[in-house]
Amino acid sequence: MENRNITAKITVCSYEELTDGEKKLIDAAKEASNRSYAPYSRFQVGAAALLSGGTMVTGSNQENAAYPSGTCAERTTLFYANSQYPDRAVESLAIAAQTGGKFIEHPTAPCGACRQVILETEQRYNHPIRIYLYGTDEILIIESVRTLLPLCFGKNDLPEQAE
Ligand code: THU
Repeated sequence: MENRNITAKITVCSYEELTDGEKKLIDAAKEASNRSYAPYSRFQVGAAALLSGGTMVTGSNQENAAYPSGTCAERTTLFYANSQYPDRAVESLAIAAQTGGKFIEHPTAPCGACRQVILETEQRYNHPIRIYLYGTDEILIIESVRTLLPLCFGKNDLPEQAE
């Protein structure tokens, strides 16, 4: 028997420490949260994805009276990016959430389903996605969703598919 340890590298920083490009991505995620439709949870989440070539797309959570029919900001954004720009890799993704008119102090991390979709996007384009989680107290930066999903099931676990 052996033990295997999994370590996770997460960078913690403040908004002021970010580059202008990073600030722009986070600002876009914050702004997208204003377009959330969250009458049930009142938890408004926005996401912004930076694609190769410099295009930015945003999305927000869209809820439904039949709760499971709604979707998170991350999936709205990635599915939009992948459907509108299927030839561009997603390079980074910022996520911001507000509730009661205030952005949250401690960043929220993507749910399990979104982690799986982020993984698929990384594998589809063979490109890690740097993730920025915004909070007013601190910002977390993660170099790849693999950090959040270390023992993952993905594309490579299935037999190779004909293109
Ligand atoms: N939500 C997101 O959009 N992203 C996350 O990372 C966590 C949760 C949404 C789903 C639902 O509309 C609301 O927040 C409460 O769970």
